[in-house]
Amino acid sequence: MENGIKKTPSSDKINSGMKKTPSSLFSITELDDFYFQHLSRSPRLNIERKISLDGCSISGNLRHIDSHECISPMGGFGHRAGFDTPNSTSDNVYEPHMMVVAAWDALRKSIVYFRGQPVGTVAACDVTSEEALNYDQVFVRDFVPSALAFLMNGEYDIVRNFLLKTLQLQSWEKKIDRFKLGEGVMPASFKVLHDSHKKIDTIMADFGESAIGRVAPVDSGFWWIILLRAYTRSTGDSTLSETPDCQKGIQLILSLCLAEGFDTFPTLLCTDGCCMIDRRMGIYGYPIEIQALFFMALRCALQLLKPEGESKELLERIMTRLHALSYHMRSYFWLDFQQLNGIYRYKTEEYSHTAVNKFNVIPDSIPDWLFDFMPNRGGYFIGNVSPARMDFRWFALGNCIAILASLATPEQSIAIMDLIEERWEELVGEMPLKACFPAIDGHEWTSVTGCDPKNTRWSYHNGGSWPVLLWLLTAASIKTGRPHIAKKAIDLAERRLLKDGWPEYYDGKLGRYIGKQSRKYQTWSIAGYLVAKMMLEDPSNLGMISLEEDREKPVVKRSSSWS
Ligand code: GLC
Repeated sequence: MENGIKKTPSSDKINSGMKKTPSSLFSITELDDFYFQHLSRSPRLNIERKISLDGCSISGNLRHIDSHECISPMGGFGHRAGFDTPNSTSDNVYEPHMMVVAAWDALRKSIVYFRGQPVGTVAACDVTSEEALNYDQVFVRDFVPSALAFLMNGEYDIVRNFLLKTLQLQSWEKKIDRFKLGEGVMPASFKVLHDSHKKIDTIMADFGESAIGRVAPVDSGFWWIILLRAYTRSTGDSTLSETPDCQKGIQLILSLCLAEGFDTFPTLLCTDGCCMIDRRMGIYGYPIEIQALFFMALRCALQLLKPEGESKELLERIMTRLHALSYHMRSYFWLDFQQLNGIYRYKTEEYSHTAVNKFNVIPDSIPDWLFDFMPNRGGYFIGNVSPARMDFRWFALGNCIAILASLATPEQSIAIMDLIEERWEELVGEMPLKACFPAIDGHEWTSVTGCDPKNTRWSYHNGGSWPVLLWLLTAASIKTGRPHIAKKAIDLAERRLLKDGWPEYYDGKLGRYIGKQSRKYQTWSIAGYLVAKMMLEDPSNLGMISLEEDREKPVVKRSSSWS
């Protein structure tokens, strides 16, 4: 192991002095104790939860979070009553559900500690799997449902520590071969190495330079901002987000995306595999998952950034971009029966501003399956839009995030849920929820995936069913006033998840088979289930991950308004 560098809490200083291991992973053996101790405090605040859902207001109980509840000998766990966990003994108002107890137990077993402090959860704790690959690491995107479960349970420290640790990692110098990555890039994952001999913990991080395909995770930075807002909203404590380091972290992430260049669209141009779908799946260009997360992160940043110094100009740029992005997405990515009929009748080769078919999409490129799949009632944001290319596939994550971020108008949100109900068998089947529909096969699979044996038809990213998506479906269902959809999906998941050992994904048209190469004890399957349950029990939890529609022109909000 390389020797590490001591750093100071100042944001400009944490940018310097990075070391790189020969394996091209980045490593430091000492992380700044001072930085950690000073920023890693438990919030000591009372919280009032009050959110409004589609016009109706749900007021949660006034909950007093006693700071003593948040302190434990392990350096970080407090337990709030109201939901049963194996460690909460009093005030249990609900009959403990065996599966929930088992899920909490499994989630706690996945916790990763750095110097005695919890900093995240590993992707999977599958002891039967021959190769750990990178499933023994803390993935930024995978930690989000874990973090939400902990926040909903009043366990703030692990989330705070995670946010700070990943922020420190952002400041490392990131290189692939001789090429330096942008300053704002957040890691896809990190790993804590314990040297029991020297009694020292080391962190290694992967920004894409070790990942299969060498792709940088565009989603990580967005999830980080979204989680920072969820933390702030949940704790009522804005001292973390207001620190210069966090402010700088947000600025760096967004500067990467808001830089001016050759773009003619407000959407973000990406390479394949830069998000949850982290293998080649034909999502290069302007994938819906990234556009929805981008939109949500921009909106969260509006709440988090203090309107002073460098942020002033950034806030202006954010607002301008949000405006253009929502217009573009709502107009060109949206597809329902009427839109499809319009595209079917498109003229091509139109020149000038008066063109209707702006991207010159050839109607013959509309796939056959779509004509049957499109219900009379319902619609969705398609996978991708770029010159002469519309990827008509359905992607669950992007559509659910579009609802939660209010990228979708209220009508569009309702239409997305209509589509899910109308096409339940195709999109949910026996296990919620298909990451992408339909699967690609044959020649298309060959050319689009590059013959990926993991992404064969109806498997993994290519039409596989991912239990983690249950929390997103639940959140979207609650937000659109249709909790029965979530209930139905949770019931399905409860039939199998625990019995099957919390698989990462299921295969088959209906999601009946445990995935070919699926890990067991996949943490985000476990956490996703818990979040779905807790959100359904207490819909006020939705507030930490949902943003109301901005009916007015966006106004810069002071970061202190969280109710
Ligand atoms: C797979 C998934 C990715 C996830 C990772 C860890 O690579 O495609 O989205 O983050 O596993 O669970």
